Formats: sequence, C-alpha cells, structure tokens
Amino acid sequence: MYNFDKLTDRYDTFSYKWDVAPGELPMWVADMDFEAAPPIAEAICRRAEHAIFGYSTTPDCFFSAVSEFYGRRHGFKIPTDWLVYSNGVVAAIGSVIRRLTQPAENILIQAPVYNIFYNSILNNGRRVLSSDLVYDGEGGYSVDWQDLEKKLAEPATSLMILCNPHNPVGRLWTRDELCRIGELCQRYGVTVLSDEIHCDIVAPGKSYTPFFSLEKYRDISVSCISASKTFNMAGLQSAAVVVPNEILRYRVWRGINTDEVGEPNAFSMVANIAAFSDCDGWLDGLLAYLFENRVIAESYINEKIPGLRAVHGEATYLLWIDASGVSDDSVELCERIRRETGLYLSDGAEYGECGRKFLRMNLATQRERVLDGLDRLKRAVLSEQAK
Ligand SMILES: Cc1ncc(COP(=O)(O)O)c(C=O)c1O
Repeated sequence: MYNFDKLTDRYDTFSYKWDVAPGELPMWVADMDFEAAPPIAEAICRRAEHAIFGYSTTPDCFFSAVSEFYGRRHGFKIPTDWLVYSNGVVAAIGSVIRRLTQPAENILIQAPVYNIFYNSILNNGRRVLSSDLVYDGEGGYSVDWQDLEKKLAEPATSLMILCNPHNPVGRLWTRDELCRIGELCQRYGVTVLSDEIHCDIVAPGKSYTPFFSLEKYRDISVSCISASKTFNMAGLQSAAVVVPNEILRYRVWRGINTDEVGEPNAFSMVANIAAFSDCDGWLDGLLAYLFENRVIAESYINEKIPGLRAVHGEATYLLWIDASGVSDDSVELCERIRRETGLYLSDGAEYGECGRKFLRMNLATQRERVLDGLDRLKRAVLSEQAK
C-alpha cells in the first residue's frame, strides 16, 4: 500500500508548482505531490532502459485500457472507436474550438471556471460568454437556468464548455442537471465540449456521470478525459477525446491531426496503459486520503478561521474558499498571504470576475503539508484582522 504521508521533495525537478523560494509552500497549480503509482513508474523505467526514443503509435491496447477502466469505475465501457488520442486536454480544447466554431462566435462557460478555458477561447478569436454559476453564500453553487437558456439561445453561441466535475467549485453535476444542459444545447444547436479531466477524483460513495453516457444527447457531445490528474502524470501530456457521433468524430480527429497534437511521446503510452490497467488499488487509497484532507481542511477553515468559509466539494482535490469576510480582492489577499507566510494559493479572480473574493487551495499533498498550509492561512487572516 502506498504511503501518501511520505514527504516528497520536488525541488530541482523543474516542477512548475514547486518553482518557489525555500520555505514557501505551493498549494496552487493542479498537480499532486505524491509519487505516481508503482506500476506507472516501473513501466516508464522499463521504457527508459530500452534507450531508443523514436516515434510512438497509439496501440489498440491503449484504447481498450481506457474503455475497460471506464467500465470498471464509472459503469460505462466506452466503445473504443469513440476515442481519439490527443496531447493533453488543453490541446484538444483549442483544436475543437478551431474546428467546430468560427471566429467571433460565442463560447459559453460557467464562471468561476478553469482559467485556461478563457485563454483557449480568446486566443482563437472567439468570444467568452459566461452564464455564471450562482453562489448561495453558504457554500453551494447552482446553475442559473434562465440565464443559461437565454445565452445558449443567442444565434452566435455555438459551443458550451462544461467542466464535469467543476474546477474550481468542486461540484459534481447530477444526471438531471447534465440532461437539462443537453436538452438546452440540443434545442439551440450548441455542441457540448465536456472537460472531464477531474472525473476520477470523486468523494468515496459519490459517482460522476459521463456526459457521453447520456444517450439522448451524446451525438452533440465531445468529451475530454485523461489519466493526468487521476494518476499525477500531467507532465506526460496525454488525453483522449470521446466523440460518439461518427461525423463529429471525423471533424475532431481532423482538427487534432491538422494541429499536430495527436501523437504521443515515447513514455505516455506505457504510462497510460499501466495507469488505466493496474492502478485501481492505488487510486482507491488516493481518494480516501484526498477526501480526508478535504474534510480536515473544510472543518479547519469553517471552525478556526473567522471570515473564511470553505465551499463544500464532492469532487477534485481543489478547495474553493469564500474569503469575502476578509477581503474584496483575493489577488491582493493572495499576495499578502504569500508574502507573510510563504503559502502560495491561487486567487479566485483567475477563474472569472465572480471569483474575485475567493481563494483556491490545492489539497493534493501530504497531510503534514495540508495542516501547515491551513496554519499559515489562519496566521495570515488573523494578523490582518488584528490590524
Ligand atoms: C478542468 C481542467 N482541464 C484541463 C486541465 C489541463 O489539462 P492538460 O494538462 O491535459 O492540458 C486542467 C488542469 O488543471 C483542468 O483543471
């Protein structure tokens, strides 16, 4: 059994997250501080020992490993011919935007949401149209259905990017909610691009519904899945796109090929096959650990840090924190927390203007570091209140 408490040292590994000063504690970008499951590391070592790193294929056994994994863990065995390989989810999103929409069209998102959606839309000359999620002030988020319908009905809206489950608020969309979104998108001729990269990181006892499992709406859908969050291998840059409809699949596949983001590097196939085939036990242990981190962090914040409120999440290892009782501007707050305590969080404004009074904390680290991070956060908030 892997020991998730074992402290790891990521300095001097060119880690994006850990490119920080000594003594700082990075709890921002979404990767984990745990070693990958042993079968993944072993597969990569074996591949490295071979010492020839030429071009790779995407073998059938990769697609069947993905398909079987979804069958085992999410009750839906994906037909392998629905799958297209891509070098990461963001690469696929950019490509889908270019293929399925035209410049200046609206792409609907639900802010606060993963910041790179904005980049992918704007960098491709499309417009961001947000139907902001509604925050109830007590830690819950929901869809504003009237607003969503109005925006989907705009003739210029051609694509909706759904985040299922939702980063950063940790919502696990229900089957009913997904059907309602599917219904509206179908009515108004909008394609659904469902980013499901966080789908395996779900609280024990809860389950996620893949958008492509909704028979009625799957023909208007393109979904992105990946081992990168689940198994901590984002640096291997690999993902799969699920496109049930054959014609749509052809267009997506053409886009990914035209953009040259459809060929794996020398390590990603062996790592993916090991991850999707041999790591279920490791993943169960990870989920138990991560959601214990979440319970600890949510109650610590709600009980011991006046002015902060943790938004209860059922998915992802990212904790969304309402800081409106402390500051109107989390950009400034984040900078101050880092300056005074070395704790490096993400400011909520990155995820859209409606996130400006929020913070995001990455809990995918050893318990000792989670407790250290919470302690630093408390110190920073209390010192501000004492002024
Ligand atoms: C919702 C979401 N999509 C995509 C990504 C990144 O995907 P990739 O590294 O495969 O491009 C992230 C990373 O944080 C994410 O949160």
